[in-house]
Amino acid sequence: MTSPTLATFQLRDGAGVPLVLLHGFPLDHRMWAAMVDELPPGPRIVAVDLPGHGHSDLGHLPPSLDAAADLVHTTLRGQGEGHAVVVGLSMGGYVALALAERHPEFVRGLGLVDTKSTADDDEVREVRQQVAAAVTSSQNLDAVIGMAAKLLGPTSERERRVHYPAVYEWIRSQSVAGVAWAQRAMAARPDRTAVLRSFTGPVAVVVGDEDRITPEEDAQHMVDAAVDATLTVVPGAAHLSALEEPAVVAKALVDLYGRVHRP
Ligand code: MLT
Repeated sequence: MTSPTLATFQLRDGAGVPLVLLHGFPLDHRMWAAMVDELPPGPRIVAVDLPGHGHSDLGHLPPSLDAAADLVHTTLRGQGEGHAVVVGLSMGGYVALALAERHPEFVRGLGLVDTKSTADDDEVREVRQQVAAAVTSSQNLDAVIGMAAKLLGPTSERERRVHYPAVYEWIRSQSVAGVAWAQRAMAARPDRTAVLRSFTGPVAVVVGDEDRITPEEDAQHMVDAAVDATLTVVPGAAHLSALEEPAVVAKALVDLYGRVHRP
């Protein structure tokens, strides 16, 4: 069994516990650039390409977000990181929760952006299996290209058309194998709400008020379960709030980082 390697990108130099960014589906580390530009100097920022996405290999990794979380952990530990503040958007949030469950000593704080802690229902699981089968049999990404329109919201459609070509390009550049893997891995993930009940570090939950994929109810569910959580609702942003309103998301993450270091 080959062990895939995860590509990591130091987006900003800095000191202390790094802020680790995990992207959504079907994207890669590039989705964070606008948000990182809004962060003041401080911690090192490391973005990870999840298995089969961006520059990361898939190898023979089973379709499991647990396996992805273990790989993120191994990769960062291999780079000498003992701890991290882990921030995930959507699929990245599912992986962040798996990381907090499986390697709690590693995770100092959690940023959960446009994501949820609950599992899929049977209908969503079935659609995911169909998408995985469709991209595999056609060997193209037609079944997911249209997602760009759902990731961005009506405000972006009116006022930030500039984001569309980039998001389409990010999706188009993903691999068929990575997209199929992610669909199967997301379908298999369990409900991880209980992780939030036991995680004692600070949690920042962020959601765009136009997010139709993981709407505000999902965010509130996580806040209600967590031991120490704040909620930021981002006006005029949808599922890609970190791209659509990067300054608001950056502020929420700066606050999270400050809570990790409070006496
Ligand atoms: C994502 O943005 O990562 C996806 O929408 C997650 C999902 O399909 O559940």
